[in-house]
Amino acid sequence: MKVWTTAWGVARFGIEVSRDVLRFGERLAPWPLSLVPRTLRLPLDGIIGLAGTLTTQPAPVPDLGANPPERARPPRAERTPARERRTPPDEHRTATIAGARSDGAADAPVYDREFRARNAPLYVRDAGKGPAIVLLHAFPLNSRMWEPQLVGLADRFRVLAPDLAGFGLSWVPTTASSLAEQAAAVDHTLEDLAIDELVLVGLSMGGYVAFPLLERLGARVRGLVLASTRAGADTEEAVEERHRLAAQVERDGVEVAADEMLPKLLGSSTLLDRPDLVDHVHAMVLENKASGIASALRAMAARPDMTPALERIACPVLVIAGEEDAVIPTPTARLMAGRIPDARVEVVRGGHLVNLEAPDDFNRLIEEFARQSFELERPRRRARAARA
Ligand code: MLT
Repeated sequence: MKVWTTAWGVARFGIEVSRDVLRFGERLAPWPLSLVPRTLRLPLDGIIGLAGTLTTQPAPVPDLGANPPERARPPRAERTPARERRTPPDEHRTATIAGARSDGAADAPVYDREFRARNAPLYVRDAGKGPAIVLLHAFPLNSRMWEPQLVGLADRFRVLAPDLAGFGLSWVPTTASSLAEQAAAVDHTLEDLAIDELVLVGLSMGGYVAFPLLERLGARVRGLVLASTRAGADTEEAVEERHRLAAQVERDGVEVAADEMLPKLLGSSTLLDRPDLVDHVHAMVLENKASGIASALRAMAARPDMTPALERIACPVLVIAGEEDAVIPTPTARLMAGRIPDARVEVVRGGHLVNLEAPDDFNRLIEEFARQSFELERPRRRARAARA
């Protein structure tokens, strides 16, 4: 065992040095030349990430919905009156995002509808009617990344996409907010909007927030989708990187986060073939404020390891992974799913932002899963059984 540990230590050192050299090359080389060192670095990232997941030490972690919290929800009439200082939930304003892109590009995708946008504790895009699907966005984006889902799923479901605190049109935390505080803000938002049961979808950072939110909501979550995300905490190296980037973003502005994150967020095929999507994601990053991005980086660096809690997730789970995802390699997603009692994995085209890179596949999976989670399939199944 000791021999293996030493051998792995030496190998790991070699891999990390090679990664640093390649990363340096990535920073020096102009795009698309930087894709060469990046492509060479990805398998090394995968090995380190996988090793990190396998060697993660279990730590005491909270219940994830296996035992719904004791905290019974008071009847609506007895709850804290809608926070007066905020816009009352019924007063919604219409966000005209139809055809609009933040960079005003002429080739902007045209959406044939407008979304209701609400100022609950968090700013929320809110489309459609029916059972609720709540979408939590990735870092460093905002709820606009869910446009294909707000358009594609709203004919059967009520689709709600908050801007997490510090992003988009939501307030910016004045201190480094934790992911638990992010989850609390989403919980209060759902309460203001009278959302009781839901299917919860978290993509990457949205997944990190979904874990503490699931702990708060318990059995109200009928199904959980973990897309391009992981349960493990950051490695020491990743923590350092996040603090470095947070300080740099505070000093030099949001553009730094866009430059650094963009090549990681999109798969290599998208980076080569979809300049429109690259521009679109870039524009979304720039819609956020430096202070919000820095705060989220510090919150992610401090997040606990949720791996030991996975086995206590009580609801059905769908894990979605992008086959070219450099941030969360597919084996990491499979390992996570393997620890959840009722989980299945779907691998789709694309990199990290699978909902934007493969929107049709993503929407189909979410729709199927939400229908099963809300048991909307049942009457048809029963009818078929009765006919047979
Ligand atoms: C995200 O997409 O939310 C980020 O890549 C998450 C992370 O940096 O861990």
